[in-house]
This record gives sequence, C-alpha cells and structure tokens, in this order.
Amino acid sequence: MLGIETLSREQIEFFLDQAKPFQEFHKHPLKKLATLRGKTVAIAFFESSTRTRISFTTAASRLGADTMALQAEASSLKKGESLIDTVRTLDAMKPDAIVMRHSSSGAPHFVAERLDIPVLNAGDGTHEHPTQALLDALTIRDRKGKLEGLNVTILGDILHSRVARSNIHLLTKFGARITLCGPPMWMPPDVATLGPCVRRVLRIEEAVDGADVVMALRVQTERLHEPALPPDEYIAGYQLTPERLRRARPDALVLHPGPMIRGLEIDSAVADGPQSCVLEQVTNGLAVRMALLYHLVGGPPADAPHPAKD
Ligand code: NCD
Repeated sequence: MLGIETLSREQIEFFLDQAKPFQEFHKHPLKKLATLRGKTVAIAFFESSTRTRISFTTAASRLGADTMALQAEASSLKKGESLIDTVRTLDAMKPDAIVMRHSSSGAPHFVAERLDIPVLNAGDGTHEHPTQALLDALTIRDRKGKLEGLNVTILGDILHSRVARSNIHLLTKFGARITLCGPPMWMPPDVATLGPCVRRVLRIEEAVDGADVVMALRVQTERLHEPALPPDEYIAGYQLTPERLRRARPDALVLHPGPMIRGLEIDSAVADGPQSCVLEQVTNGLAVRMALLYHLVGGPPADAPHPAKD
C-alpha cells in the first residue's frame, strides 16, 4: 500500500467497504480480535507523528498482532545508520509487515523493492499519504452517501501536502470536482495536469462557494516565512472562518487531517462546529488501517502447513 495513484477505483472501493465492519467493531465495549494473533507489524516512523502512528499501532493490536516500534529519535539512525540498514535490521526480526513514514518522497517504495513483506506507506515526504485519503473518503462517503460529483475544496499548502496529493488522486478517480486554493507560491504549477476536474481559485470566498466538502490543510509554520508570507497574511487570505464557511452548502463537511493549528488555518468555531468531522476522521482512520492490515497481513504464512493442502 504505497500510494493511491496506482490503485483502481474498484480497489479503493474494496478497501472502503472492508472498513465498514471495523467501524461497527469500534462501537463494542471489548475491542480485541484474535485475527492476527502471532503476527508482528513493524512500525517504523522516521518522522514525527501523533495520530497516524498511534492509529496503526492500535489497529494492529486490536487485530491481535504484536508491534515492534522504531523510535527514530532514539535509534541508530542518529549514529549514521542508513535507511536500508535500519529497515533490514527490523526485517531480520521477522515482522509480517512494515508501516513506514519518512520525510523523503519514495522511501517506502525503495524499501518495498528490497523486502519481501508488505510495506504500508504512512506518509512519504510531499508525495503520498494513502491511508489518510482512504479515511477521508470513508468519512465523506458515510456522510454524503457517495463521492461522485461532489465539490471538494482543499485549502492551504497544496504544493507540499501529501494529504492533498493522495486526496486529489482518490477523489478524481470518483469524478469529484476539486477546487484548490492557497497562496500562489504553495500551488502546484501544473494544476491542469492533476485531472480534468481540478481547478485553482485565487479567492477563498469563491473557492468555498457551493462546496460539499471543505478540507483545510495544516500550515507548516516553518514555511510561513518563505519568501515573505507572514502568518497575518495567511490568516487574512486563507483561514477557514465561520463567515467563509457560510458560502459553502449548508450541509458541507469540514475536514482537517490534523494536527490542527487553531487560529491559523482554521478558526476554533469551525473546528468545533457542527460541520466538523475532524474526530470522526480519526475514528475512521482506525477502521481503514485495520482493514488494510487484515488484508495485507492476514492468512497463514506461505510455508505453514495448510489444512486445505493436507
Ligand atoms: C498529516 C501528515 O503528517 O501528513 N498528518 C496526518 O498524518 N494526519 C498532515 C500534516 O502533518 O500536515
């Protein structure tokens, strides 16, 4: 599971459908299955994370799997070990899959070519964040009943956002119409090549007008100063405020992948308002990741005695 770009619409639908029973499962008082008992999932995050790391770890544990976690800050990476040596060391302890986040685009692909176990991309550089796009799609589909034909507005730093890229790949496969809005220096130069239904709009009021879904991205504060975009200017031009949200459809959904910076990309009244799906996204992330681990790790090892073969 390296990215959304290479998946078909049918494959995406399959995983969204497979997440449904796990959504129900999370309503139960006892949240532990034995499905992946005896399996081990390596969780290798070379970049910081709160929700994605905890979500994958919890998904594995609720399926009954053990996890082995790499703490990048406290690992031999700090001593100069290469990525592939670190990952091969983890692999030598025989995990059944590896979940990986890395600041370099393409790092999980590089690893997947060299290991025999499934690799799940938990975010690579500015490239893709496939499980985030799947959980966003599940949230939208649950609330709207479909993805087809929806008007989805994505606000912020589109250029550097792996969340935006994976969402654009996914939603355009379903014929959603995407409107991108943010500071010109954070816009991909080639918006037209992203798909026939992807457009760029300069003013946020126009971008939000008539939207079914408004997704605000996290602003990477370290980028706010380059070249000369002070926070005040971002807030004035692109913050999702209640006034701006009123231009969207009255039943429009508000999404944010987290971590949210309140008062910067999103006003607290919107983040906590009745249209916000932020916490629902987190809960759905668990269901999507359980479904993926179930399919990629489930089943007996290839060399184990198989009842059907006997
Ligand atoms: C995102 C990420 O790290 O790509 N967070 C997440 O996984 N939910 C978004 C971000 O950090 O901007």
